[in-house]
Amino acid sequence: MMRARRWAPVLGSLFFAAPMVYAVIAVEAPAGYDNLSNGFESQTQFDLDLAEFNNREQIADGLGPLYNAQSCGECHETPVSGAGSQVTELRVGRLDPSGNFVEHSGGSLINDRAIDPSIQEQATRDDTIIAFRSSLSILGDGYVEAIPDDAFTRIQANQPPTMKGTILRVPLSEAPGQTRIARFGWKDQHASLLSFAADAYLNEMGITSPLQPSENTSNGKSVVQFDAISDPEDVATPSAPHGTDIEAFVRFMRSTKAPARDPVLAASPGAQAGAGVFHQVGCDFCHVATIQTAPAGTVINGGTFTVPAVLGDKMIHPFSDFMLHDVGTGDGIVQNGGQATARKLRTPPLWGLRTRSRFMHDLATVSYEAAILRHAGEAGPVIQSYRNLRPQQRSQLMQFLRSL
Ligand code: HEC
Ligand code: HEC
Repeated sequence: MMRARRWAPVLGSLFFAAPMVYAVIAVEAPAGYDNLSNGFESQTQFDLDLAEFNNREQIADGLGPLYNAQSCGECHETPVSGAGSQVTELRVGRLDPSGNFVEHSGGSLINDRAIDPSIQEQATRDDTIIAFRSSLSILGDGYVEAIPDDAFTRIQANQPPTMKGTILRVPLSEAPGQTRIARFGWKDQHASLLSFAADAYLNEMGITSPLQPSENTSNGKSVVQFDAISDPEDVATPSAPHGTDIEAFVRFMRSTKAPARDPVLAASPGAQAGAGVFHQVGCDFCHVATIQTAPAGTVINGGTFTVPAVLGDKMIHPFSDFMLHDVGTGDGIVQNGGQATARKLRTPPLWGLRTRSRFMHDLATVSYEAAILRHAGEAGPVIQSYRNLRPQQRSQLMQFLRSL
C-alpha cells in the first residue's frame, strides 16, 4: 500500500481538527526516562508510590498462593521502573470441535509460581494452543487512559477498509455496569488503569483487592487452604495513609512521563527521512504517530475519574492505534473480545522501541527487519510496499525505528 504523501495525512487531519473541537490548544506531554513525576502527583508522593510498585510482597502480605512475581517492578523494570522487560507470561487453551477457543480449566493464564508444590499450575496435553506474551511498558499510560473514546473511532474511520482496527468496549471494575473503549493489554483487556492494576495484583501476584476479591484457582481447583490471609488482602489500613496498594500503583502509573525519543538520533537526517518512509508505506495506519488526550475536566472511566490539567489536552506519540488487528501472528487466545479476536492483537505502541531487545508479543523476533517481515494479514499490502523500498529507504526506516 504505497501511498502518495498527502499534505494532510491521518495525524494531520486529527491535528487540524483539534482547534475546532477544543478550546485549549494541546501541548506536548512531558517525556523522559528519569523516574520523575509528570506533575500528576508530587515528587515526594511519586517516590513513595514508585517504592510500592517495586515492593516485593511476601506470603504474609498475601502473595500467592499462585503468582508470577513478587512485585510489579520485577516485570516492569527497564530502563526505569514502569517500563517493560523480557519476562513473558503463558496462556493456554484448546479448540472445541467447532473450532472455538476453550480456555484451560481455571483460566487461560498459567501462573508460573506457587507457594506450595502441590498447587503448581501446569498446562495439559489437551492445551494445544500455547502463547507467550511479553511484559508491556506502562510509561505514559496516564495519557493513554486520558484518550477520549471518540479519538479511537476517528482513527478507525481513517483506516483503509481492510485495516480497520477492532474496537472493544469493556467493563470497568470500578464502575459496575459501565463500559469504555479498551486500550490496555495485548488483547485490549482493559480501559482504565485501576481495572488493570486490580487485575494484575491478582493475576501476577495473587493479591486480592476489593475490585478483585477472589483468589485464582490451580487448574480449576480451589487453593483456599493454602491462603492464610483473608480476602480481600489489599485493603486500606491506618498504617497506610495513602490508601490501598492498587491506588498507589495507579497514582504512580498516571504520574509517569511518556517514553522519550533519543534526541540525537531523532534529529539525524536518516531518521527524519525514515519517518517519511514510515508514513509513505502506511505503517502509521496502525502505528498512529500522534493522538491528543481529552480536555482537562473531562469525566472518564464511568464517572470515576476527571482528567486533570496535567494529563488533559496533551499530544502524545505512541505509534499505536490501541486497537486489535490480525497481522498473521495472533496467539489464538480469546479473553474478553469473543471468538473473532482469537487471531488478533493490539498494535503495540512503538514509543520506547529502542529500549527493547526482542519484539512482537512472544518476543520471538530479534531485529526490526524481522519484526516487519513477520507482519502479514491486514498488514500484507503495507509489508509489500516495504519490500519494494530501495535499500537506502529501508535503512532510513531502521534509523527512524532506532530513534523511538
Ligand atoms: C510476571 C510479570 C508481571 C508482573 C509481576 C506485573 N506485570 Fe503488568 N504486565 C505484564 C505482562 C506480561 C503484560 C501484558 C499482559 C497481556 O496483555 O497479556 C502486562 C501489562 C500491564 C499493563 C498494561 C500496559 C499497557 O499499556 O497496555 C499494566 C497497566 C500493568 N501491566 C500493570 C501492572 C501492575 C500495576 C502490576 C503490579 C500489581 C503488574 N503489572 C505486575 C507482566 C507483569
Ligand atoms: C494492520 C496494522 C499494522 C500495520 C500496517 C503495521 N503494523 Fe506493526 N504491528 C502491528 C501489530 C498488531 C503488531 C503486534 C504483532 C505481534 O506482536 O505478534 C505489530 C508489531 C510491530 C513491531 C514490534 C513492536 C514490539 O514492541 O514488539 C514493530 C517494530 C512494528 N510493528 C513495526 C511496523 C512497521 C515498521 C510497519 C510498516 C512497515 C508496521 N509495523 C505496519 C500492526 C501493524
